[in-house]
Amino acid sequence: MKILVLHGPNLNLLGTREPETYGSMTLEEINEKLVAQGQEAGVDVTCQHSNHEGALIDTLQEAREWADGVIFNPGGYTHTSVALRDAIAAIGIPVVEAHLSNVYAREEFRHKSLLSAVCKGKVTGFGWRSYTLGLQALIEILGE
Ligand code: DQA
Repeated sequence: MKILVLHGPNLNLLGTREPETYGSMTLEEINEKLVAQGQEAGVDVTCQHSNHEGALIDTLQEAREWADGVIFNPGGYTHTSVALRDAIAAIGIPVVEAHLSNVYAREEFRHKSLLSAVCKGKVTGFGWRSYTLGLQALIEILGE
């Protein structure tokens, strides 16, 4: 089983970016945890990041060729991107939406996700654990 973990804009700044909202763990540290979690479950986890909408779409389209599922934190594009929604709908593999912060406890513009309706499910508000919880769920679902 192969899983892509995809991080969107500004997540490369984790660790120093608004730590009161996003925590103090760096993206590299989160990725290490996810790869280790995958190894324990016998799953190959590959982590990628981009700040660019088109590059995220390219990565999702490519994932269709090699990945069984995706954990995706689309960052700010969550709330704006019809093109990412269309990409998720197009690729036909399960995508789990993950957010470090509880988007519903924040500004109103973050309450709306254009992507949730085409995702398998969504984890929000558990800090880095949103990724590990999402990964655990995806591994179990793919294994069924
Ligand atoms: C985020 C929430 C988004 O609203 C925000 O734009 C981000 C990070 C999160 O992980 O909590 O960049 O996706």
